[in-house]
Amino acid sequence: MKPKVFITRNIPENGIKLLREHFEVEVWEGEHEIPRELFLEKARDADALVTMVSERVDKEVFENAPRLRIVANYAVGYDNIDIGEATKRGIYVTNTPDVLTNATADFAWTLLLATARRLVEADNFVRSGEWKRRGVAWHPLMFLGYDVYGKTIGIVGFGRIGQAIARRAKGFGMRILYNSRTRKPEVEKELGAEFRPLEELLRESDFVVLAVPLTKETYHMINEERLRLMKPTAILVNIARGKVVDTEALVKALKEGWIAGAGLDVFEEEPYYHEELFKLKNVVLAPHIGSATHGAREGMAELVARNLIAFKNGEVPPTLVNR
Ligand code: DGY
Repeated sequence: MKPKVFITRNIPENGIKLLREHFEVEVWEGEHEIPRELFLEKARDADALVTMVSERVDKEVFENAPRLRIVANYAVGYDNIDIGEATKRGIYVTNTPDVLTNATADFAWTLLLATARRLVEADNFVRSGEWKRRGVAWHPLMFLGYDVYGKTIGIVGFGRIGQAIARRAKGFGMRILYNSRTRKPEVEKELGAEFRPLEELLRESDFVVLAVPLTKETYHMINEERLRLMKPTAILVNIARGKVVDTEALVKALKEGWIAGAGLDVFEEEPYYHEELFKLKNVVLAPHIGSATHGAREGMAELVARNLIAFKNGEVPPTLVNR
């Protein structure tokens, strides 16, 4: 009899197809997140789970799932999973690094450029007919934004994604600063990146890009005190996790001009609505789509499947988190 895997969302077919060769596969086909009660019920007789960042996988889930041996998270981040509890119970947890690095780094740059050059505001201006109504074809002071080429970028979190963002910054002739738990001498050499304590990085950067995982240490790491260190012309980009930034402090910073703008792909709760923040013109917003390309999402589906198949064959899953 094939072991059972329950997948909490419809992932690309390539992964499901691979899994079907080795597992009995059940997929939650709903557009919305699976209701918690139903998730607990489905976990009860599953040997393996494929979960999304939107599912809380905690003690309650593990207590409910006597057969569960492995959770393959369809994401590189795994702050939605209680790793300590899983490890205590001998349950493997895997994630999906590498396959989404370039897509996510590209998106950090999409937000950076769109915010610096006021693309969304400009798009609305054209689309709404306001341009035509005003009747001004071209004006030297229309929609002035911030220069990017040759400026200083500060990357907070210098793992795979942070480094990929830095590689792109080289093409923009930028000075690259980074902050991370450990120094990366090789990358410093390769990219000419300079390590800075967080406070210094915030003071010196024209663009601050957050690429850290969410942990106890990074929760509200960007708070009022730190936002006040940034330049009034600086732009903050968050492609990490919403809870890395104290949103109320950010709203204050944007309204009172302590910083110039923000590009946000992630929010403290998701889905999110924040009337005050969403009214501001100097923010560009996206609904957590950093890795949303066909290639990345298919790569993630394949990696999830490869992890589960390796586990079933008695091998160490290639991207095991809790070794
Ligand atoms: C991740 O991989 O952690 C993203 O946030 C979801 O794709």
